[in-house]
Amino acid sequence: MAIDLLLGLQWGDEGKGKIVDVLTKKYDIIARFQGGPNAGHTLEFDGIKHVLHTIPSGIFHPTATNLVGNGVVIDPVIFKQELDNLAPFDIDINTSLLVSRKAHLILPTHRLLDAASELAKGKAKIGSTLKGIGPTYMDKTGRNGIRVGDIELASWKTRYQALRDKHLAMVANMNVNLEYDMDSLDKAFFEAIDFLKTNISFVDSEQFLSVAQKEGKHILAEGAQGSLLDIDFGTYPFVTSSNTTAAGACTGLGVAPNKIGEVYGIFKAYTTRVGSGPFPTELFDEIGETMGRVGHEFGATTGRSRRCGWLDLVALKYAVEVNGVTQLMMMKGDVLSGFDTLNVCVSYDYRGQNIQHLPYSLNAEEVEPQYTSLPGWEEDLTKMRSEDELPKTFMDYVAFIEAYVETPIKIVSVGPDRNQTIFRSS
Ligand code: GDP
Ligand code: IMO
Ligand code: MG
Repeated sequence: MAIDLLLGLQWGDEGKGKIVDVLTKKYDIIARFQGGPNAGHTLEFDGIKHVLHTIPSGIFHPTATNLVGNGVVIDPVIFKQELDNLAPFDIDINTSLLVSRKAHLILPTHRLLDAASELAKGKAKIGSTLKGIGPTYMDKTGRNGIRVGDIELASWKTRYQALRDKHLAMVANMNVNLEYDMDSLDKAFFEAIDFLKTNISFVDSEQFLSVAQKEGKHILAEGAQGSLLDIDFGTYPFVTSSNTTAAGACTGLGVAPNKIGEVYGIFKAYTTRVGSGPFPTELFDEIGETMGRVGHEFGATTGRSRRCGWLDLVALKYAVEVNGVTQLMMMKGDVLSGFDTLNVCVSYDYRGQNIQHLPYSLNAEEVEPQYTSLPGWEEDLTKMRSEDELPKTFMDYVAFIEAYVETPIKIVSVGPDRNQTIFRSS
């Protein structure tokens, strides 16, 4: 049985958590393949909003198994906090949650290094979530990291101390003003590790998935962040430290490329970005401010306000191509109700040429987005539940995007709740 992927196509926060939750009834296993607690995936149902950081978004479905794959980096302290938040919801985490032994651990000193690196960069900072993501992936590729499976070995605390001390020396060398209490950081870390060892099943996840595939289980891989934050294909260096694109699911779960089925690409009807870095269609006016206010555009992990702007079809098409997206899901169309006209970026003026692909650099001085204007819609979409209720101008907006990116939009989302999801038949 092929594995389906669900990926964000912009700069993250497209609504992945909501859609994974909606789709989980069709799947036996939901597997996160990269990123870590930099992610904030929001789900809403029965009037309750849940935000998940490391735990896959299928966790509220009693029959689904949720796997944290080898490509994910795990902060035990945040992971334990997430599990504590789930306590009132009667979820048997012993059976419904599995963690790969090959996933790397975020140490408290990785977080310190992240903060020190951002302080040292000053104005050029990435705008990291300060969760230690970059330093942990650096230790992974530098072959110094500590993996979940290591904590089952007797010698691991010695390795922990050596790595921690090395990190502290690096922080000291960076000459930044960072205050911390290492004893309490260590204490919280070891308490969380003990909790995980007692309560969570660790698995050889590639083997688990390989058996599940042979048994015909339906598997959905859940991405974090978005394609424009990919370490290779994003707006480097203003990116995260993992491959957020389809290839990341292969390495982050141990799935062969020829075992991938559908690739669901998810995007907002406009664009947002949190943190630093280029954003050609960003709006600095009342329209951008309205999108942020109506769309509640505040980071689910850091609470920072998200920058807002028009939909960028050049960037969207690039993401569709890099990922091999087979079907699209458009989120938050409801937020655009009430604008007379909507602009969509259809090309860039770049170094004296008009281009329709994503160039090497998206720096504001070099890229001038060119727009097509489409008529907006007045209607409130949030109570609509079927395609035939949607206004014509909304459907024209959908059709324009489909024609540009040459991929069908199969789901439109008209609100944060599970029920505010319209499956298109055509
Ligand atoms: P993720 O990181 O991709 O899972 O997305 P986030 O959870 O960080 O951000 C998406 C936000 O939009 C959350 O607050 C969702 O509850 C909300 N949301 C998702 N879909 C819709 C939608 O169609 N309309 C509106 N208004 N909000 C939505
Ligand atoms: P989800 O999964 C939006 C951004 C940060 C920063 C850059 C690097 O919820 O879509 P990092 O902490 O990874 O080193 O930060 O990436 N970023 C996200 N932006 N959604 C996310 O995740 C993000 N995860 C990281 O704001 O600009
Ligand atoms: Mg998010």
